Amino acid sequence: MKMISPSLLSADFGNLQRDIEMLNNSECDWLHVDVMDGIFVPNISFGQPVVKHIKKHARKPLDVHLMIMDPGRYVNDFKESGADILTVHYEACTHLDRTLHSIKDAGMKCGVVLNPHTPVVLLEDAVQICDVVLLMSVNPGFGGQKFIENTYNKVRQMKELCMRKNPSCLIEVDGGVNVDNAHKLYEAGADVLVAGNAVFKSQNPSQTIIELKR
Ligand code: DX5
Ligand code: ZN
Repeated sequence: MKMISPSLLSADFGNLQRDIEMLNNSECDWLHVDVMDGIFVPNISFGQPVVKHIKKHARKPLDVHLMIMDPGRYVNDFKESGADILTVHYEACTHLDRTLHSIKDAGMKCGVVLNPHTPVVLLEDAVQICDVVLLMSVNPGFGGQKFIENTYNKVRQMKELCMRKNPSCLIEVDGGVNVDNAHKLYEAGADVLVAGNAVFKSQNPSQTIIELKR
């Protein structure tokens, strides 16, 4: 599959509705929403009230990436705010299995995110209940960082693991994705690419989304 989930972290927060409308009319598949708590990652972005407003205008599924400690505490809050897909970090969950089940029980698609240093093999068991796994290709916290090349290997390893344990699980990649590396990522086995700066800092965001899907 070739899907694009533009990251609203790089949108103009003063004109969020305008940027969401642009994405509604584009060929993107999901809207990627980055929630940061200033503890799990060094940056603070926004929380449920903003997600709720994004939901009011969005006509595509909200792919909410929680970069917060103990995300299990907020599963129902994000369901109420309008998340369709909720992903939590392996590194931020003590009871990952419980958290993933609570996301599913709340009626959302669930996923685990791995930081660049976390090996794919740790998902051997959890992948069986995941709808998506998200591989970070930068250290989370900021948009506009440089893509980590080892990600291609991790995507291939993840693809192999999914084929053995859960072939319908989607592989998503987040961080430093652009028109130069997108094709190679799809080739390695990625299904969904997150792109922040590549989309919002380009001259023609809708056209860039088309190019990222090619
Ligand atoms: C980083 C976030 C990303 C970020 C991607 O911590 O999880 O989703 O917005 O931005 P780019 O595509 O600019 O690296
Ligand atoms: Zn993200």
